[in-house]
Amino acid sequence: MAYADIYRRWQADPEGFWMEQAEAIDWIEKPSKALFDDNAPLYEWFKDGKVNACWNAVDRHVEAGRGPQYAIIHDSPVTGTTHKITYSELRNRVASLAGALRAKGVEKGDRVIIYMPMVPEAIEAMLACARLGAIHSVVFGGFAAHELAVRIDDAKPKAILAASCGIEPGRVVHYKPLLDAAIEQAEHKPDFCVILQREQEVAKLVEGRDFGWHSFQYGAQPAECVPVEGDHPAYILYTSGTTGQPKGVVRPTAGHLVALNWTMKNIYGVNPGEVFWAASDVGWVVGHSYIAYGPLIHGNTTIVFEGKPVGTPDAGTFWRVIADHKVASFFTAPTAFRAIKREDPKGELLQKYNLDSLRALYLAGERADPDTIQWAQNQLGVPVIDHWWQTETGWAIAANPLGIEELPVKVGSPSVAMPGYDVQVLDEGGHPVAPGTLGAIAVKLPLPPGTLPTLWNAEERFQKSYLDHFPGYYETGDAGYIDEDGYLYIMARTDDVINVAGHRLSTGAMEEVLASHPDVAECAVIGVADELKGQLPLGFLCLNAGCNRPHDEIVKENVALVREQIGPVAAFKHACVVDRLPKTRSGKILRATMVKIADGQEFKMPATIDDPAILDEIREALKGLGYPKG
Ligand code: COA
Ligand code: AMP
Repeated sequence: MAYADIYRRWQADPEGFWMEQAEAIDWIEKPSKALFDDNAPLYEWFKDGKVNACWNAVDRHVEAGRGPQYAIIHDSPVTGTTHKITYSELRNRVASLAGALRAKGVEKGDRVIIYMPMVPEAIEAMLACARLGAIHSVVFGGFAAHELAVRIDDAKPKAILAASCGIEPGRVVHYKPLLDAAIEQAEHKPDFCVILQREQEVAKLVEGRDFGWHSFQYGAQPAECVPVEGDHPAYILYTSGTTGQPKGVVRPTAGHLVALNWTMKNIYGVNPGEVFWAASDVGWVVGHSYIAYGPLIHGNTTIVFEGKPVGTPDAGTFWRVIADHKVASFFTAPTAFRAIKREDPKGELLQKYNLDSLRALYLAGERADPDTIQWAQNQLGVPVIDHWWQTETGWAIAANPLGIEELPVKVGSPSVAMPGYDVQVLDEGGHPVAPGTLGAIAVKLPLPPGTLPTLWNAEERFQKSYLDHFPGYYETGDAGYIDEDGYLYIMARTDDVINVAGHRLSTGAMEEVLASHPDVAECAVIGVADELKGQLPLGFLCLNAGCNRPHDEIVKENVALVREQIGPVAAFKHACVVDRLPKTRSGKILRATMVKIADGQEFKMPATIDDPAILDEIREALKGLGYPKG
């Protein structure tokens, strides 16, 4: 069947479509139906079924004869090691870890935070939680102690699983002191921590609270898979919103299993047994869906890559991994390709490797610029598929479903809506606009299986952030348009979220940190265009009256403060001092206009601006920082 037939089939009978996809999952009790709408506009999927995610990702493959197949390949150029784990070994390792967690009191519904680098144990920790029905929340290693503390207080974990360190090119990231500081800062205290001691650093354990990864499991009775209801949260993943308080996206177990399994063949075009690689991090949604769960649920081999696209050791690393492990389908962020292109524009390193196994490249996480797509196409000679999704959805809203049919690629567009998503572009009043007209991108409710049913501990915020603005729709926070052929174009965010190297960051959160500096009276952070990372944050500081300290000192302190409070991932390196910020007469800071000036784009003078002369001051300040570029 062609894409259009499958999309129409879903439209005509969503219930039948999803019940059919659910057949590919092992159920302990089959659900009586797919969609539960008694709480509309809050929807749930497969709620009365019973299932276990770890069983579906691991045990069932062993039962079906995949035991000797590699489940995980850990390829770590930063430590110079490669380590392969079969499905049988994975089952034993996960059952043992789950058993040890259970022995220490972790049960179905308990939260467990995982703060780990790209090592297989991070995936095993996720699966061990899933085995018990415990709800994991992975926190990205590039976040600082304060961000970890905020998540500890929101999720209230019984346990935290962490590693002694992570390895970034040229430096060891000391996770344990960050963990200790976070627990110190948080009001909620976990019962215990389990620490994976790595060769590069052996961390000091806190007596009575911390246990070593291996001694913790010694003698533990392996745990069986615990049945959970279809709507039981598999995990919470925090993502940036408009404030410093991140949003805890809840992922329901059954919908997640059904939807991810469907995507592996239909979107990514892989068959069970083949090698799938998503070069992201377990701390992001791409890592959850396509390093951990998706490939394993589908019986693929997944690669856990601990390195960077460049510098570990060179811009040929990705090609080396694809060739060494015979990767069939590869997924990364456009920024990684921009980094490679910058170091090896002619693709000379590529000539050293045999990439015959590779059938397609998938890009997501940020807008894929046409130059990057074309360069990748020329170098690799395989389809380059841009696809669009969010932490909230957990899988692609729009893609080119290669496993169904290769639709014509329109460079600059992540192609068409996937079954399950009725995507529409709305005007301010919530009315669908004509093709080619820019507007807010929304998805008609209900969202498909696997997407967020709510936010952890924050149902009101969920409704306010996503459902209230356009009743009957989920508001994506992205703006764009749909062309005559139904292809989507994602142009910008409608909120203050920015995207730095494929990482979603909140300018609001950075502003909260800057505002806490004793000399800062007022501030603004904007995202400016960057050739490599897509966007970079830039800060504007207005100082308290009477403050006469050197500006560069204050800027330096603020840069350090953001790194210390949010983490290096914020990539906040530039700020300047200004007398005033441009505002509307009602006091709203005109961030979008500031972005236009920084990016050297034309803009209309906002009709509501209070004092247009301030824009000249901003222009001068930006000039001092080297903006606009070029
Ligand atoms: N733990 C600790 N620190 C981390 C980290 C982690 N897991 N990941 C990143 N950092 C640090 C980096 O060391 C860097 O610190 P620095 O300011 O001291 O240099 C900072 O956070 C920013 O990191 P990053 O955004 O990765 O930029 P980079 O300059 O190190 O590398 C690229 C640039 C383009 C190579 C890199 O951004 C990249 O590979 N991006 C891939 C994007 C991606 O996977 N996105 C996920 C969504 S699909
Ligand atoms: P995250 O939740 O971190 O995955 O970030 C989701 C956001 O990243 C989206 O709302 C978009 O703003 C942006 N994004 C992700 N994929 C794409 C894409 N293919 N094209 C344009 N923007 C994208």
